[in-house]
Amino acid sequence: MIPKDHSVKNMEQNETQEPLYTALRPQTWQEYIGQEKLKKSLSIIIEAAKKRNDVLEHLLFYGNSGLGKTSLAQVVAKEMGAKMTFCSGTSLERSGDVASLLTNLEDGEILFIDECHRLPRGILETLYSAMEDYKLHLVLGKGPMARTMDLSLPRFTLIGATTKMAQLPAPFRNRFGAIFQLNFYEQRDIEKIVERSSSILQLQLTKEAIAAIASRSRFTPRVANRILKRVRDIATINEIGLVNEKHAAEAFGFLEIDELGLEPDDRKILRIIIQKFSGGPVGIQALAAMAAEEQETILDVYEPYLLQLGFLERTPRGRVATPRAYKHLDITLPQKDLF
Ligand SMILES: Nc1ncnc2c1ncn2[C@@H]1O[C@H](COP(=O)(O)OP(=O)(O)O)[C@@H](O)[C@H]1O
Ligand SMILES: [Mg+2]
Repeated sequence: MIPKDHSVKNMEQNETQEPLYTALRPQTWQEYIGQEKLKKSLSIIIEAAKKRNDVLEHLLFYGNSGLGKTSLAQVVAKEMGAKMTFCSGTSLERSGDVASLLTNLEDGEILFIDECHRLPRGILETLYSAMEDYKLHLVLGKGPMARTMDLSLPRFTLIGATTKMAQLPAPFRNRFGAIFQLNFYEQRDIEKIVERSSSILQLQLTKEAIAAIASRSRFTPRVANRILKRVRDIATINEIGLVNEKHAAEAFGFLEIDELGLEPDDRKILRIIIQKFSGGPVGIQALAAMAAEEQETILDVYEPYLLQLGFLERTPRGRVATPRAYKHLDITLPQKDLF
């Protein structure tokens, strides 16, 4: 049995542990593959700000984990020639934390807040005036003696990243100059990412091996890189110079990933819907209970890709497995119409 943390999927706890500066992270627009429309509009915003000699507006990036939000922020900082400070919604607890962070920024600096849907209310409120007019409202003292004081802040740019757009309060969302959604990647873009990563890792792959890895990557760069690293392990152990599809298949075997990138847990979710709930509709609560998983894990980790593959549909009454899901699992579709 492969331990859970070997999973190639994007558990959030793994995401926050990924170092910020790794060899595989893109640093420039050229290295940042795919998301062409987003790159175009974002580069216009950057060029315009540079031409006006102005600070960049606050930006919000949202999308599934592993799609390149943190990397994108790094590319933006590099393009702007700006310093960037990283923090996460989970690491800021008291208003004092954010106050000292903000007062220590330089003019034009970028403050990147990862998982910004996790920011506590008090911190969000401190951020509102900071984002709006670069002011920090401080309340000194308590009760009738309390006084307020406004402190001017450097003109900074906040870049927020989130996997849960719907959880952001409207006043926070409205303070961003532009909001960008990162989508799942195209197969050919993932192939380019695998190609780029393999040359950085000094690993030689055939075209077929690249395609095989890409098609198991859940259209997600982080997953592609994780699978690639396991393939590299196989190549190292067996002293393989040029990795072909068969060598790669060995890594897929021990990761238990099928040809669409589904892992045992994904298949378990589908099987439960099909076999325990007659294909659905089933509510998220019942599904989570039966699968012994957190609802959040189903919503964030399993469901987006199953929806993307067209294996699941979300209806007002719950999740429904589609005929495609039956076919993939080799389960005969019940002929409901006959009864
Ligand atoms: N557009 C891209 N081009 C090349 N590699 C990418 C791209 N987006 C992400 N990656 C790779 O995937 C990994 C995860 O990306 P990351 O920016 O941390 O995603 P997120 O912050 O959305 O979870 C990065 O380390 C990088 O190697
Ligand atoms: Mg990130």
